[in-house]
Amino acid sequence: MVNFTEIIKTFIKSVARSRVSLMGAVLATITFPILLVAAVLDIMRIVENPYFGFIIYMVLGPLFTVSLLLVFLGIFFFKGKEEVGIFTYDSLKELFTAPNRFAQVRKIVFLITGLTLLNLFILGLISYTGYHYTESIGFCGQLCHTVMAPEYTTYKNSPHSRVRCVECHIGQGAQWFVKSKISGIRQIFAVAFKTYSRPIQTPVHGLRPARETCEECHRPELFHGDKLYIKDKFMPDEKNTHLQTVLLLKVGSGGYRGSNANGIHWHVAPENSITYTHTDTAREKISEVSLSKPDGTRVIFTKEAETTSGSSGKVRTMDCIDCHNRPTHIYLSPDEALDLKLAHGDIPVSLPYIKKIALELITKPYASQEEARNSIATEIRARYRRDYPLLVNNNMPLLGQAISGIQAAYTENVFPEMKIEWNTYRNFLGHKNDSGCFRCHDESHSTKAGETISMDCDTCHIILAENEKAPKVLETLRGRGL
Ligand code: HEC
Ligand code: HEC
Ligand code: HEC
Ligand code: HEC
Ligand code: HEC
Repeated sequence: MVNFTEIIKTFIKSVARSRVSLMGAVLATITFPILLVAAVLDIMRIVENPYFGFIIYMVLGPLFTVSLLLVFLGIFFFKGKEEVGIFTYDSLKELFTAPNRFAQVRKIVFLITGLTLLNLFILGLISYTGYHYTESIGFCGQLCHTVMAPEYTTYKNSPHSRVRCVECHIGQGAQWFVKSKISGIRQIFAVAFKTYSRPIQTPVHGLRPARETCEECHRPELFHGDKLYIKDKFMPDEKNTHLQTVLLLKVGSGGYRGSNANGIHWHVAPENSITYTHTDTAREKISEVSLSKPDGTRVIFTKEAETTSGSSGKVRTMDCIDCHNRPTHIYLSPDEALDLKLAHGDIPVSLPYIKKIALELITKPYASQEEARNSIATEIRARYRRDYPLLVNNNMPLLGQAISGIQAAYTENVFPEMKIEWNTYRNFLGHKNDSGCFRCHDESHSTKAGETISMDCDTCHIILAENEKAPKVLETLRGRGL
């Protein structure tokens, strides 16, 4: 039988003979306990910090692996002075034929097998938890703090704040996993050397087709019915007059239980396939739209103005992202941001002219969010103390609330450090600035026969009220006054 202490002795001797092995062994002895304790703390979720995960899985893990490699490399290849033996045929022959040498070799082989199994287990554990770490929201959204702050902030405030970044950006399957890791390594270099672009470019090239990611959770072909869309607005007058727009959005479906595809999600019905050619990177200038119908016919709409712009353009198959390009990184316009805060009561509507003043303050240029916060606070205090001293003195908290609401409207949408101003990122869901749906639905893309893609207001929604004070239709629907 093999003598265990003998084996250990031989191993220690071999290690001691090689400087490389010794270095490896020292490194392994230092990293191992730290790594083990850290990994346990992480797995038990006792410490939850993205930098902690980074140190365990991106620094300690690889260091430990390297140290083990050094130990083994040293034993075999870089021995001490007397035996600097790269494997030559002679030395190999001697190792395996001379009886006393072979006994030694056998011991080392046993030990190495044992140690390798143990190491494989530890490395397996670390790569498994490490893999989960690189898929975590902390890794994607918080590690490179300044770079991802805009995406992370908007994500946190969106309906998808509980969906992990990787579920939209990578999805299932090995091919996209590998792609994302390769691009991830490039991104780490970009952050290290600050070569990333500010703002981060959109659209994301190489984003997995949305049909494979979004449809893990949503199935528009099964949507049905319309959606009541209510938008609150506040005027820049003394009373911050509250107006509402009410639409019935024809959300539609890709064909629900035998009924035909209809409404807005008609585009993603299994039987329709729409491709389009765009002549710019932002996909805003669309020169041709091609619709393949279930019966095999193709309808092609072209827009002369865009075809003559020189570039031949890129072809893309329309999917969810061509409308929902901001499902989670939603940046609002200054008006929208303030209207939302006023509607939710984060900014008190009772302060005279608050909408007007706030709009003026948040649209000024600032060098950083910090500067914006300070400037907003000082300005609001100064102006209201000057113009409405009575109101302010009797109700101090009101001003504080207004300040934090206005600051939030700014810091949730503008990130000077990443050069993200108001309206840096376009939202295609709708037709703001004649973009979004109106990139195609503009009555200027036409077939040879002269048919166009409809811009008729009733195609997509019925306008029930537009900028009305207490719209009658809401009263009717809710069965009571507002
Ligand atoms: C609900 C799906 C979804 C989730 C969850 C999600 N993203 Fe995105 N992300 C998108 C889409 C869609 C785009 C824009 C794609 C386009 O226009 O090409 C995008 C764009 C980006 C961009 C490019 C800049 C931009 O705004 O266009 C970055 C960077 C990014 N996401 C990072 C993240 C990070 C970090 C997280 C997690 C904190 C995350 N994403 C979570 C869907 C998602
Ligand atoms: C892992 C599941 C998951 C994935 C993947 C996912 N979503 Fe969602 N999505 C949700 C959930 C859950 C909600 C509902 C959130 C709520 O109501 O608070 C939602 C809500 C929505 C809404 C309604 C938002 C609103 O304002 O009410 C839209 C639109 C949407 N998702 C589009 C998308 C698109 C486009 C993609 C692909 C880029 C996507 N989702 C990917 C889970 C997912
Ligand atoms: C032609 C543009 C367009 C395409 C393509 C599109 N959507 Fe939508 N989708 C919309 C609009 C517009 C709404 C309503 C927006 C609103 O509620 O403000 C909507 C609403 C939704 C909602 C919320 C439904 C509800 O009743 O609240 C989900 C979820 C959704 N879409 C998912 C998807 C997914 C997944 C895809 C891709 C398979 C997709 N959409 C493709 C335009 C589109
Ligand atoms: C890439 C081009 C493109 C974009 C962008 C686009 N559409 Fe369309 N849409 C089409 C085409 C093509 C048709 C079919 C027109 C026809 O057959 O006359 C269509 C048809 C429709 C229809 C009628 C469907 C039916 O029942 O027959 C609705 C509703 C619609 N679109 C809503 C929207 C909305 C809302 C948006 C923006 C969120 C949008 N579309 C963006 C190309 C587009
Ligand atoms: C191709 C589809 C489509 C057509 C055509 C269309 N709209 Fe819209 N419109 C939308 C969608 C989708 C939204 C909702 C956007 C959102 O979810 O933020 C919208 C929103 C609106 C809003 C509310 C905007 C706001 O937030 O204040 C108004 C007002 C409006 N549309 C007016 C019109 C008028 C007027 C026409 C006719 C010239 C028209 N629309 C044609 C798709 C369309």
